[in-house]
Amino acid sequence: MIRAAPSASSMPLASNAANRARCARTAALAALRETDPVAKTAATRALYAAVLDGSLACSPDLELGEPAGLPGRPERPELVEPRKLGRRSMQSPQGRAVLLHALAHIEFNAINLALDAVWRFTGMPADFYADWLKVAAEEAYHFSLLVARLAEYDHVYGDFPAHDGLWDMCERTRGDVLARMALVPRTLEARGLDASPPIRARLQQAGDQASAAILDVILRDEIGHVLIGNRWFRYLCDQGGLDPHATYTRLADQYHAPKLRGPFNFEARRDAGFDEAELAALAGLDAPAPVAPAEDD
Ligand SMILES: [Fe+2]
Ligand SMILES: [Fe+2]
Repeated sequence: MIRAAPSASSMPLASNAANRARCARTAALAALRETDPVAKTAATRALYAAVLDGSLACSPDLELGEPAGLPGRPERPELVEPRKLGRRSMQSPQGRAVLLHALAHIEFNAINLALDAVWRFTGMPADFYADWLKVAAEEAYHFSLLVARLAEYDHVYGDFPAHDGLWDMCERTRGDVLARMALVPRTLEARGLDASPPIRARLQQAGDQASAAILDVILRDEIGHVLIGNRWFRYLCDQGGLDPHATYTRLADQYHAPKLRGPFNFEARRDAGFDEAELAALAGLDAPAPVAPAEDD
């Protein structure tokens, strides 16, 4: 069969459409829209594998319109205000199931956050997209580990309510890749580095070694995610001739980042690329509050 050669005027459109179809950023947006958690995790991991083996590449300059209803998520869990989520004792299986569910929800959001960085921000170097696809694939792995463990407690993702704080910061920083790097990986994910050791200790104390071992895998990978956040935050600061410390303080203030509170995991934060001045500033926050003198002193 003889095909007609495309007219000159149709060429750019055809190549644009082909580009769009093959672009890993388009595929990241499709995975972000996926509502079924199992399909989302499978698509995310397959996407990173395709980028690694060269069958998909990123087009940094491709502008993608934002569809309504991001991120794709299942009908359950019900999303509620953080203050409505009670704390339960780690000593009961139900309490541990609630904790595992909360961690799974964080990982589900983290998949979405990493995919969002890939599709949304144009004009970054190819490594930026590859880094965030790697993060997305690792978050998908964390989610699947936690959901498998939750199943051993006879629960599924969606059984308990959850809050939406992580996606909220994603929304606030949708127009600014520098703020996204400052406030999502370097602030929210970095808080996860601090939170991990005490949670792990409580699980171990309760005799749940299997869940504690999952926390070890997550902490190891999360150090890498924060390192990636630091890498791209500093890159953008360099590009713009900005001082990273003053810029972080300005952005944290402008976007109402949560106030940092100790105890901090200094070792993990150092491995994740925070510099000595940043660690020293945190050490100041970590210092115990001075004891107020008793009234009759
Ligand atoms: Fe994670
Ligand atoms: Fe992460």
